[in-house]
Amino acid sequence: MKNLVLIGFMGSGKSSIGRRVAGRLGRDFVDVDVVIEQREQRRISEIFELDGEHYFRRIEAAVVKELAARTDGCVIATGGGVVLNPDNLHALRHNGVLIVLWVDADTAHQRTAHKQHLPLLKAPDRHARVKELFTKREALYRAAGTLVDTCGKTLDEVVEEVVAIYRHHHGGESHRHG
Ligand code: S3P
Repeated sequence: MKNLVLIGFMGSGKSSIGRRVAGRLGRDFVDVDVVIEQREQRRISEIFELDGEHYFRRIEAAVVKELAARTDGCVIATGGGVVLNPDNLHALRHNGVLIVLWVDADTAHQRTAHKQHLPLLKAPDRHARVKELFTKREALYRAAGTLVDTCGKTLDEVVEEVVAIYRHHHGGESHRHG
């Protein structure tokens, strides 16, 4: 069965939507960031601080490759930077339906305002930092998969859309589980 892969900027709702979608479909839910933290036995902020972004991206790529190889139709929430490495997307596409949770820069800023641990947003002007990262990545998100706009929608509405897209891409197979 094809995995359902959620991609999107920080604050797009990958983890909260992913957990709910997995519940709806009766599938496993895996969060790349959580797997990285478990494997490293430390928080992502600590990995960035002590070993740098390059090191983090290497581990991220290894975890993505492993999870992408699953064939049980699991729901995978990726980290916001997964789109930076084309090898990640290539691996995930092999057995996955890629869905991009779309969020604009202002909404992303609002939704991440309380997340003090996000290493890439540690900046004197967080709003400017979000905008800068967003501008750099926007085209990558747009090209990564089927877009679902999350702005102004409830979690339930987004979950419904994601489930519908997955079922559409995956044909009848997922209906047996849904
Ligand atoms: C990152 C997003 C984070 C985490 C790391 C880097 C990014 O994940 O992987 O801080 O580059 O956008 P979330 O998008 O789940 O917050």
